Amino acid sequence: MNEKTLIKGKIHYVGVNDRQKRLFEGMWPLPNGVSYNSYLIDDDIVALVDTVDACYFEAYLRKIRAILGDRPVQYLIINHMEPDHSGSIRLIKQQYPDMVIVGNKQTFGMIEGFYGVTGDRYEVKEGDFLSLGRHCLRFYLTPMVHWPETMMTFDETEGVLFAGDAFGCFGTLDGGFLDTRIDLDKYWEEMTRYYSNIVGKYGNPVQKALAKLNGLPIQAVCSTHGPVWTENIPRVAGIYDRLSRYEAEEGVVIAYGSMYGHTEQMAEAIASELSAQGIRHIVMHNVSKSHPSYILKDIFKYRGLIIGSPTYCNHIYPEVEALLDKILLREVKNRYLGLFGSFCWAGAAVKRMGELTEKGKFEPVGDPVEMKQAMTPLAQERCEQLAQAMADRLKKDRH
Ligand SMILES: Cc1cc2nc3c(=O)[nH]c(=O)nc-3n(C[C@H](O)[C@H](O)[C@H](O)COP(=O)(O)O)c2cc1C
Ligand SMILES: [Fe+2]
Ligand SMILES: [Fe+2]
Repeated sequence: MNEKTLIKGKIHYVGVNDRQKRLFEGMWPLPNGVSYNSYLIDDDIVALVDTVDACYFEAYLRKIRAILGDRPVQYLIINHMEPDHSGSIRLIKQQYPDMVIVGNKQTFGMIEGFYGVTGDRYEVKEGDFLSLGRHCLRFYLTPMVHWPETMMTFDETEGVLFAGDAFGCFGTLDGGFLDTRIDLDKYWEEMTRYYSNIVGKYGNPVQKALAKLNGLPIQAVCSTHGPVWTENIPRVAGIYDRLSRYEAEEGVVIAYGSMYGHTEQMAEAIASELSAQGIRHIVMHNVSKSHPSYILKDIFKYRGLIIGSPTYCNHIYPEVEALLDKILLREVKNRYLGLFGSFCWAGAAVKRMGELTEKGKFEPVGDPVEMKQAMTPLAQERCEQLAQAMADRLKKDRH
């Protein structure tokens, strides 16, 4: 049993897989499921790091008991209070009533508010310490990665970082959990999608957290979602670093709405000109078909963004507006932005998109293109000019 759960020293993986939930946070598709990771340190003093979604409590408790038998959990360390991790706090406290809960000033109000749990607590501040016998833990406050109470716990004895949502990704753990022992293919895209969907807005706090961790002798990263990272730490940290700086690759996302195909024809004209100009990575998303989860993932990946919308009741097409809202919510920066659209009698979408995106931190590229009714040679030419402006801007960044 031990070798199936052991990570390092006396640290065990006791997380669970969710292959049932369709939408994470009620919004983000989970075609590969998701894991809720929790860790048990079976030292002289026994500590549990985070819990799991309450739906999986029975399986979770069985995993803990398989390791501990009748011995109790003495400390429960809460790095993050989002219910995908805190959901089992009340149930686990019922099993181990003498357990001391470890959190920071922000944590305990949430524990009481969500779960009505009070009792013994250890309130930690930045840099505080807890010795379990062999394992020595130190606490680092990392607010807004991804809630105000989030903190990280570093096991100084083994160099293991319990990172909360940071360095996490979608995708269940199918058998193994250690990066060196599993097929990692499915996790890389899912990491960018997880970051852009869930953490996306909090680039600055992530950067602050990365700066704080810089210099720690980290041998393993135990996130609350996805694999335990050892050999791949540099790659994972690099992905989180780039995404939180809003750095992106050369490439263009063309996201558009279209009811009858006219705006779509503009998108096609723009895409083929981009390709003719030597842009290799072009991703087209019809917003009525692509889930915004995947569009956001690609927007976090590529530096060029071109958005198209028909005029709809004197407004932006609602599905495009919903996407714009998600982009603006995440405060996406360092993107080159082009706009286009079509109308029948009085255009409004392109102008309104311009007004909306002015609030964001985009660099406008090219002249916005607005087409009346159907494609004409002039509209075609203006779409191509927009594509050329985007290609030129992207090429300026080449070295
Ligand atoms: C429900 C609906 C509302 C529309 N509202 C407007 C409008 O307010 N102003 C306008 O000029 N055209 C309006 N149109 C026309 C479309 O904007 C126009 O035909 C556009 O080219 C459609 O693009 P598409 O073929 O990509 O769907 C509307 C069309 C529909 C179906
Ligand atoms: Fe979270
Ligand atoms: Fe989470």
